[in-house]
Amino acid sequence: MSNYSDTQKKVIILAALVGIIALLHYATPTEPHYFHKIHIILRKLYFLPPVIAAAWFGFRGAIITTTTVSVLFLLHAFLDWPGNYMEQANQLGELAGFWLAGLISGRLFDRQRSLLMDLATANEETLIGLVSALDLREHNTRMHSQRVRDYTELIADRLGVDEKMKREIGFGALLHDVGKIAVPDQILLKPGKLTDEEWIEMRKHPEAGYRIVKRIGFLKDAAEIVHAHHERYDGKGYPRGLKGNEIPWGARMFMVADAYDALTSKRPYKSPLPYEEAVIEILNQKGKQFDPEVVAIFLIIAPDELRLIAERYQDGDLPS
Ligand SMILES: [Fe+2]
Repeated sequence: MSNYSDTQKKVIILAALVGIIALLHYATPTEPHYFHKIHIILRKLYFLPPVIAAAWFGFRGAIITTTTVSVLFLLHAFLDWPGNYMEQANQLGELAGFWLAGLISGRLFDRQRSLLMDLATANEETLIGLVSALDLREHNTRMHSQRVRDYTELIADRLGVDEKMKREIGFGALLHDVGKIAVPDQILLKPGKLTDEEWIEMRKHPEAGYRIVKRIGFLKDAAEIVHAHHERYDGKGYPRGLKGNEIPWGARMFMVADAYDALTSKRPYKSPLPYEEAVIEILNQKGKQFDPEVVAIFLIIAPDELRLIAERYQDGDLPS
């Protein structure tokens, strides 16, 4: 079933479930009495597909499934309509029950889904607020981390990463420098070269960021990227000197994205490089700072796609 999408798989499972229940229901005879008991028990299973459909597809899915179940149920009732009133009332009551189960759970699952989406949006906005404040402090811009996030996600997309992992990698890219909150202003904002002691202090920021981010439940994978965002493919990075595939995949994607943004962005001390020159700089570091596979994928991305991201998150005019 690997060729099917997640949705297709769920539809197939649901259809198979309805089919099996209907088959059992139709195949078990209503006479003698002993079989009739089993027949009635099997009939109750029709409650299951509407609720599963509600959980997987919400209100609309529940209506479609409940309609299918009702048609199958009514057809059987039509073919084998019981003689006594109690059993007739029982069957009609069950039919009404299918609809109540389907409609109520459909509504509730829809509501749950929309609340979860609101929560995810709120989380994301909080994180963006935090990194914007940090970007403003260090770079005098607010958009660096958001651009890097989108560049990283674009690379991840071209490398065939699934949506869930892409989102986690995106959060890692967004939060990469969050540990700089622990670096004192006189070091972080120093205009000249840093002394050896100051470098030691500066190089603590991936570790500090890791400690902050790993405490947040949904950011476990993002924390690994934060930890490894200054590693180098050739093993000469910091803090752990990881090499090649030891570096988390997302961090290897981030490195190229971050370098591209640094090269093509305007900073108080430098003007931005055009795409072509930035690419030459990145190619120079292929196999040294950067994973060659990530660089190869990055070169396939159309410059216009990158430009679109840069335009979406413009820094505006910087105060000198
Ligand atoms: Fe950093």
